[in-house]
Amino acid sequence: MRLGVNIDHIAVLREARKINDPDPLEALAILRRAGADQVTIHLREDRRHINDYDARRIVEHSPLPVNIECSLDPGILEIISELAPHRATLVPERREEVTTEGGLDVIGQFDRICEAVERLKEREIDVSLFIDPDFEIVAASADTGADMVELHTGEYANIYAMLYSNLPHTPHSIPELELSRRELKERLSQAVGALENSALYGAKAGLLIAAGHGLNYHNVAPITRIPNIEELNIGQSIIARSVWVGLERAVAQMVEAIHG
Ligand code: PXP
Repeated sequence: MRLGVNIDHIAVLREARKINDPDPLEALAILRRAGADQVTIHLREDRRHINDYDARRIVEHSPLPVNIECSLDPGILEIISELAPHRATLVPERREEVTTEGGLDVIGQFDRICEAVERLKEREIDVSLFIDPDFEIVAASADTGADMVELHTGEYANIYAMLYSNLPHTPHSIPELELSRRELKERLSQAVGALENSALYGAKAGLLIAAGHGLNYHNVAPITRIPNIEELNIGQSIIARSVWVGLERAVAQMVEAIHG
């Protein structure tokens, strides 16, 4: 299982002061030394963290394949086509969200997504779709011509946190705090089951399967045991841990958590 490290939050820290420090480019060599397989960045429409200059330098200088998450906005797609990273992951985007909240509406936006996939693939960019783990959405994704899907693990992560974390819950979590432990455990196994079934179905349809969102050092192990998932993209928990142990150790510890 490959690890893509999302380094947006290094740019979040920089943007807190609107200066040049820390520079996300400096993370690349560290990621590679620590055993990461890919660097992931999100070029958001509001440029709240990674900006065009970062994206360009990261694509030009990265020793690891670069995966750029982006919306279907024509201006953004134009930039990604021109940058031609190794991969583009199409994600839904809303300005008011704190982070990507759900998967792409592949069924409702099918034609628009097909056009984006075609346009990116013309530039020999591999295309992934960030989707909820749902059978029909996986089927529609395969029909778009995309190379892979990234299954949204946010629901799994939220239920896991409700069951096993003592800390107050994150704001984008599911609101039903009233569930009993038995109900939560059931919901957790349903969430894992949805990921398993979607991964299996997607792999049979010829898609490569990644997963990500909300994964951390505690909740990642059950995801690593799901057959057909070949890659995880993880940001928040790694960058958060790097504050305490440094980026190289934080990445190495996640590699260890994934490979056991
Ligand atoms: N994958 C995708 C498509 C995302 O949008 C994000 C968040 O930017 C991640 C993975 C990483 O999520 P997290 O920061 O919760 O690990």
